[in-house]
Amino acid sequence: MLDRNKIRDDFPMIKSEEAKGRIYLDSAATSFKPQCVIDKVMDYYTKENANIHRGDYDLSYQVSSEYEEVRKLCAKFLNADSEREIIFTNGASSSLNLVAYGYGQKFLKEGDIILSTEAEHASNILPWFKVQEVTGAKIEYIPLDKEGIFDMEGYKRLLNELGDKVKVITLAHVANVLGNIVPLKEIIEEAHKVGAVVVVDGAQSVPHIKTDVRDLDIDFLCFSSHKMLGPSGVGVLYGKYELLEKMDPFMLGGGSNARFDICGNILLKEPPFKFEAGTPCVEGVLGFGEALKYLMAIGMENVEEEGKELHDYFMKRMLELDNVEVYNPKSETSIVTFNVKGIFAQDAAGYLNSQGIAVRSGTHCAKILLNVIGVSETIRASLYLYNTKEEIDRVIEVLKETTLEKCIGAIL
Ligand code: ALA
Repeated sequence: MLDRNKIRDDFPMIKSEEAKGRIYLDSAATSFKPQCVIDKVMDYYTKENANIHRGDYDLSYQVSSEYEEVRKLCAKFLNADSEREIIFTNGASSSLNLVAYGYGQKFLKEGDIILSTEAEHASNILPWFKVQEVTGAKIEYIPLDKEGIFDMEGYKRLLNELGDKVKVITLAHVANVLGNIVPLKEIIEEAHKVGAVVVVDGAQSVPHIKTDVRDLDIDFLCFSSHKMLGPSGVGVLYGKYELLEKMDPFMLGGGSNARFDICGNILLKEPPFKFEAGTPCVEGVLGFGEALKYLMAIGMENVEEEGKELHDYFMKRMLELDNVEVYNPKSETSIVTFNVKGIFAQDAAGYLNSQGIAVRSGTHCAKILLNVIGVSETIRASLYLYNTKEEIDRVIEVLKETTLEKCIGAIL
């Protein structure tokens, strides 16, 4: 059982004097960090500041080895075949762009199809628009129902119709506004029958759900450290090794090549190093390692199970409110997206802020989702392992009494 009070003690953003009265419901944007992550970043700057893979002295050897240990740990966390399948990037957006550029732009051509959904975050659709523009391949959208739920029959129909023209399927395991979990295993099985490669945006799923890349048979998985207790500026691209081998890097530079000459001949290193040109966010990766250890000590099964329990409680209470419209009642992880009836999302969010409640409002970077749920501006409240039922009860009390007058009063 997850001891939320004990967990809360690990987070300075919760236990500090300044945090009194604050309820943080924006972990889908970025999570708070436990003390062990903060300490590790501090330790790097105060005790181990050196570049990796470049220095011929103990400090650099030590930091290089710690950095590579995090890669191994991350492979273990995802149950990947090998740490060679883990590339450190600077965030989920960067990982998604890397696949779209290095795989999509390299291998797709006119006549090819990319399947995606209208629920995607900008970071998993704009890079594919670019692939369309550069290669002539076309994006088609997998049907969703009016609540944004993945339509398996519609997907199978599309695959049946388009067959091996479908080269890439790219979608979020959990979409950042809807919060429902797509049936990834079946989606991937069907995709592989037509020879398509599946790119998974795991930004909102990996922090909350146990993700086994081998069991799911994922081809590419992209996620960020900062949404799962780690520092900002670090992301992961997991890729099956044979795909990484044939893919192009997005950046070239120091650390990614074995040699080059004056004629412009470049011999790149093997993955993952060919993708990691330049000095990485060393302190961020070391901090991410601590975040992984923290989550693994709790157990991702527990994070998932108890996260769902808290989410279900929150959703149940939200659905009881007459003055609130919830757009994702079938969400399963962390995210509740809603509006207070008759009040513009930003105005209601401003009022919640005046009551110490932090939420995100607007389009949440998923601008074409409007076509599905019929509303673009919403409030998104998202939970993580440090939130409590007491906080939810307080939020419900505040929402119950939220009126247009109070919202206007909070802005003026
Ligand atoms: N991608 C983050 C979100 O959905 C920032 O809020």
